[in-house]
Parts: sequence; structure tokens; C-alpha cells
Amino acid sequence: MKKILSIEGDGIGPELLSHARRVVDCLTKVEWVQGEAGFSTFQKTGTPLPDATLQAAKECDAILFCAVTTPPNIPNYKSPIVSLRKELDLYANLRPFLTLPGIPAPFPALNFAIVRENTEGMYSGIEKREGDTAYATRVITRKGSERIVRFAFEYAKRRGFAKVTIVHKANVLRLTDGLFLDVARKVAEEYPSITCDDALVDSVAMRLVKSPQDFQVIVTTNLFGDILSDESSALIGGLGVAPSGNYGVRHALFEPVHGSAPKYAGKDVANPTGMLLSTAMMLEHIGEKAASEKLAQAVRECYLKKITTRDVGGSAKTSEMVEKIISLM
Ligand code: NAI
Ligand code: MG
Repeated sequence: MKKILSIEGDGIGPELLSHARRVVDCLTKVEWVQGEAGFSTFQKTGTPLPDATLQAAKECDAILFCAVTTPPNIPNYKSPIVSLRKELDLYANLRPFLTLPGIPAPFPALNFAIVRENTEGMYSGIEKREGDTAYATRVITRKGSERIVRFAFEYAKRRGFAKVTIVHKANVLRLTDGLFLDVARKVAEEYPSITCDDALVDSVAMRLVKSPQDFQVIVTTNLFGDILSDESSALIGGLGVAPSGNYGVRHALFEPVHGSAPKYAGKDVANPTGMLLSTAMMLEHIGEKAASEKLAQAVRECYLKKITTRDVGGSAKTSEMVEKIISLM
């Protein structure tokens, strides 16, 4: 039986994760291991990511994570999700964007994905300040670029996408994105049946608003991917509905794109879609393809039946929406 570490985190995390666990238990048998992390864990134990949680993460087949609160004013506080990505070398952040039925949108149905490098680039954590000048070091490596681009092409191949777009700013960041682009084009040669093009990040930000149907799989560096993927979530109904997976060679962690939305905590109003679609990605990853498809399909049918939360125009409570999804599975 597969072992899943669940980390509920803060804010709306505990309620959404308990719904996700129930849904999984209705579909298949897994062994749950509970791990603590987040701001409430910090308040209790003095660390946002206890060693026991990290150890459990290394021993499980997958991690299901909701969201954590990051307090703004504690020096040296490190978000546990950032630490987990680093410690487990979860180098690929995958965010699929699939239009859900019945959400008013100005575009035809969308189906594309962003693959973001998750461990280096602008978020390498190398910053310094000298008087009134501050610096951040943007690290791009051949190894990091190769593996993320290969991940994107493999995903495109698996999912039947016909095109991968390399997104960069090599006209200005000549050395760093120059290397990323060179390496990406080389990797693309290994996949002759998939079209590869490239585009500047600023024009992609514009085209995502104007004609998002142009894109199939986007692969890009850390900061650009962070921004473009939040932008893209607005095209399919907002933060509440967007799922994500973080993949490494040995480990994988699944989490909704949204944060802990503290103002909604305990109110039974948060949209469970992002959490449940992330759960479907986890099920697929652990080899439960049928269960994964059943869950994703039930979520879509729930939208067709218009049993949805307020953020996407409905009036259902979180728990009502989850009950409906379970009844549709
Ligand atoms: P947030 O994603 O928690 O919330 C932003 C807004 O999006 C909310 O006010 C709400 O209107 C909407 N929203 C988010 N999730 C929703 C859901 N499931 N259903 C309905 N509406 C939803 O981002 P915010 O407010 O910037 O951050 C809150 C806390 O979360 C902060 O402490 C931040 O550091 C943390 N955070 C954690 C992340 C993670 O754990 N991966 C990611 C982003 C933020
Ligand atoms: Mg973000």
C-alpha cells in the first residue's frame, strides 16, 4: 500500500486537507502519515518544519500539502514549502490549466500547462545588501535547465500536447537565459515529433491575457514561472481552482496553488477544487490512474451541476461541494 504524508498547514489548510483525505479514502486504500508544518507548528515547536516531518517526507511515496501562512515579520523564518522543495530536490513545478465547465470566461475552453523550474533562478536564495544597494544572484545551470526542459517534453509527450514553448528573456539576460535557451533548444532536438518555439516572457504575459489558447506546454525559469502561473490561474476561475505538483527524481509533493487564505479559515467557504485536483494529480503519480480520473471527472461534473463555492459564482459551502463530488465519483 502506498504511504502518503499529509501536511495540513494553516488557515484553510486543515479543512481542505481533511476533505481531500476523505475523498481518497472513498476511492482507494492508502496509508496516511500525518506531518506537521507551518506557522502554527512554529508557534508550538519553534520550527516551521520539524525534522520528523522532513524525515517522514523522505520515506513516503508522495506528499499531500495544503497551504501554510508565512508571517511577514520574523527574521530568518523559512517557509516550509520552500524548504521541502529544496530538501527533496523537487525541481519541477507543474501547473495544468484546464477550463472547468460553467465558469464564465472570455475564452474558448483552455487546456495548457506551465512547467516551472523550482530550485534555482531568481529564487536561489543568494542575496546581499551593501548600504543602499541590494543584490540578488540569478543562478541558471546546465543541469537544472536540462532536467526541467526534459520534464516539460516528457509531460507533453505523455499528455499528447503538440507544442512546447520555451519562455525566457535572453535578449536582456544574455548569459543566464542565453544558457537556458541554448540548453532547451538542444533538449528539444530529442523530441522531433513535438513542435518547439520560444518567446520572451513579457510578450507571453500579454499573450496569456489576449490569446491563451496559443499555448500548450510552457517551460520556464523560476521567477517567470511563478508569475505566469498565478496570472494563468485567473484564466480558469482564480486561485481556488488551480492545482499543482512538485516533482523530483525520488519525491513528489502535491498542493493547491493558493495560500492559506486566513480570512476564510474555519468558515466552510473555501473552494476545494485546487486541493482536490492536486489530489487527483497525486493519485495519478502513485499509480492510481483510474481513481485519479474518477475524481477529476467528478469535479468537472460538479461544476456542470453548478454546485460550486462563492469565489466561482456559486453559493455552496465547501462541505456541500465535497459531498456532491463524492456522490458523483
Ligand atoms: P491566498 O492564496 O491565501 O489568498 C488570496 C485570495 O485568494 C484570498 O483572499 C481569496 O480571496 C482567494 N482564495 C485563495 N484560496 C482560495 C480558495 N481555496 N477558495 C476561495 N478563494 C480563495 O494568498 P495570500 O492572501 O497572498 O496569502 C495568505 C497566506 O498564505 C500568506 O501567509 C502567504 O504567505 C501564504 N501563502 C502560502 C502559499 C503556500 O503555502 N504554497 C502560497 C501562497 C501564499
Ligand atoms: Mg506564487
